[in-house]
Amino acid sequence: MLINGVQTDRISVLDRGVQYGDGLFETIAIIDGHICLWERHLQRLCDGCERLGIVAPAPEKLFAEATAVINNHPKGVLKIIVTRGVGGRGYRPPIDVQPNRVLYYSPWPDYPEDAWLKGISMRICATRLGINPALAQLKHLNRLEQVLARSEWTDPVIFEGLMFDSNEHAIEGTMSNLFLIKDAVLITPDLSRCGVAGIMRGLIIELAATLNISVVIKDVGLDDLKAADALFISNSLIGIVPVSAFSGQPYSLDSIPSALLNAVDDHMSGRY
Ligand SMILES: Cc1ncc(COP(=O)(O)O)c(C=O)c1O
Repeated sequence: MLINGVQTDRISVLDRGVQYGDGLFETIAIIDGHICLWERHLQRLCDGCERLGIVAPAPEKLFAEATAVINNHPKGVLKIIVTRGVGGRGYRPPIDVQPNRVLYYSPWPDYPEDAWLKGISMRICATRLGINPALAQLKHLNRLEQVLARSEWTDPVIFEGLMFDSNEHAIEGTMSNLFLIKDAVLITPDLSRCGVAGIMRGLIIELAATLNISVVIKDVGLDDLKAADALFISNSLIGIVPVSAFSGQPYSLDSIPSALLNAVDDHMSGRY
């Protein structure tokens, strides 16, 4: 683990990331020794820093540190955390604060092998996402909503829980974004009020456009989910995973375009 380029796993309890969740993070796939979608992760991190008024780390330094922590592991996960740093009594951010950056490698998660082929089961979470456009789309460090939602079930058969906002709109999974397919149109929830603008979601939207698949970003309700031809979830590690059962209702995997699945695979194969 590297913190500000130094090998250590210690950070001050006065760090504003610890105190207030005042920071951002990225979770990045390492496949075939390659840092997948690096430019996109870097861009989201920098955009997030700008929105929060945190000085973003220098890209070259970050890349060098990422390469060092990956340490030639062919497959795994790189996590980058950037906090506003130590300082200030109370919430007011100090002017001359020095951001902290944490990078570490962890092994590839133990996903069920047949998730991609057979699809996964998804439930509805009771925990709601708060509506807050000021934080919407950011991958910020305040993840209590997801922690509460993920504590709602222990059944290992359920892979993901779907979270709604307080207006009954389906937003995303606890650790993934949501897509629906209806009459060959790809639909994904509008994230202007809450949710994380996933890197994989962004890539899927772009790839769909190049494949002439219509994409609609809109508010999605339970009725839309029930009427969908197919559902899938996405994140930077899993890519696209089809949903074969949602809240007890079975879904076919057939209408997920194979061209889209292949295009995402290509982007995760270490070639991009
Ligand atoms: C709450 C939430 N939404 C969406 C995503 C998907 O984001 P990405 O595609 O950047 O991995 C994640 C990923 O961890 C997440 O935790």
